[in-house]
Amino acid sequence: MNYKGEKLSITIVGTGYVGLTTGVALAYLGHHIFCVDSKAEVVESLKKGVPTIYEHGIESLLHEASPNLSFYNHLDESLPEADIVIIAVGTPSKSNGDTDLSYVEDVARAIGRKMNPEKPIVVVNKSTVPIGTASRVKTVIKEELKKRGTEGNYYVASNPEFLREGAALYDTFYPDRIVVGAEELHAVNMLRQMYAPILEQTFIPPKDISRPEGFGLPAFVTTSPTSAELIKYASNAFLAMKISFINEISIIADKVGADIREVSKGIGLDRRIGSGFLKAGVGWGGSCFPKDTRSLLFTGKQYGVDMPMVSASIEVNRRQRMAVIEKLQATLKIIRGSVIGILGLAFKPNTDDIRESPAIDIIKELLDMGASVKVYDPVAMENYRAQFPEQDLIYTDSVEETARESDALVLLTEWESFLHVAWDKLVYEMRNSIFIDGRNFLDGEDMRIWGYNYVGIGC
Ligand code: UGA
Repeated sequence: MNYKGEKLSITIVGTGYVGLTTGVALAYLGHHIFCVDSKAEVVESLKKGVPTIYEHGIESLLHEASPNLSFYNHLDESLPEADIVIIAVGTPSKSNGDTDLSYVEDVARAIGRKMNPEKPIVVVNKSTVPIGTASRVKTVIKEELKKRGTEGNYYVASNPEFLREGAALYDTFYPDRIVVGAEELHAVNMLRQMYAPILEQTFIPPKDISRPEGFGLPAFVTTSPTSAELIKYASNAFLAMKISFINEISIIADKVGADIREVSKGIGLDRRIGSGFLKAGVGWGGSCFPKDTRSLLFTGKQYGVDMPMVSASIEVNRRQRMAVIEKLQATLKIIRGSVIGILGLAFKPNTDDIRESPAIDIIKELLDMGASVKVYDPVAMENYRAQFPEQDLIYTDSVEETARESDALVLLTEWESFLHVAWDKLVYEMRNSIFIDGRNFLDGEDMRIWGYNYVGIGC
């Protein structure tokens, strides 16, 4: 295996995108990893080597790292051995924008109840948590230990993740930076040891996740726990704001006849701005940007701080969804009674995740307006059907079937496979050849030559 130093025993609680990816990667690097999930069926599946998330490269790495990996339903089995416990459980939004920390607190309570008070342990918050959670976790553990008549020997650190779904393993192995917020040097040193192969890039890259050419060493940023917590929210809010900014500019680009892709390139080449997250489209979704921007606003409110930039990013994102509907109205004129084909349900490609996906709002609006809606997504259809069983949609097996007899196609997720469709032939199968490209993904010039009434976002 890859790790030359002392191997650590690490317990990871929660096997969602963050927990499982982190566990599999650290096991691959040579640590002893114990993954815990309260769902029996998830643990059973992982024990058999079948991943419970859709993530590029996870299945083969799960197999390769299996000698260092074990899965449990409870924390009890691995806790007495653990050097580090990583909390990677869900932190859902409450309806008022606050964050539900009950799962995090449950884990902290269990740690306080079951840890070996003699053995030093570092408890790491990896879930995205509101400011002050490191301190809350510390208190909860302390209270439980007090009930046992002991003080224990534990440290709490905040170590936010910056993983993109679909590229989570890549981002774990090749991060720009690793942020560790801790008050004690011991916690910092333990996490430095845990991440040593990544910080020094001494591991042999996994088969499907090769090291990018010219990749330098990641920065190791140590901060207070509170700064680390804020870094996570500020990073996501900034990225969301960048997308909303370019989307706002795309509306002006449409009006004046500029091409937003050229504009993005032209501004992104300025190193102070950077070219990432400047793709205009139907806006951001997923489990992170919407939840984290709401949570940041909520924190602002609690401290009496207005956050107009964050609010505006959310508002622009909401409006952007409706831009697709407006474009349909402008081309098709009457939506009631028309057949609209939706290509892509996932909030982005390479994931089956539909959380806060633009498709959800757009489909709902189209149904409310009286359209018949056909849908196709290479992997997210089951998730969509399970979440919206009441919606009267036509689920199809292919892009071709979606296009047949449709009045318009609307591309909402930039799946690679959509590039390989015989668009030149498909145009003849449609009733009306309107194509709204909500991600500016296909070649508009070609599409127009082939006879589509092709409309992009800001181009
Ligand atoms: C995001 C961040 O990128 C990660 O760094 C972070 O760790 C993660 O949230 C998290 O907090 O856990 P993720 O939500 O997986 O990752 O997805 P992104 O790739 O960031 O995309 C988010 C949304 O923005 C998608 O709907 C995507 O289509 C949209 N997007 C992205 C654009 O519309 N334009 C762009 O230029 C880039």
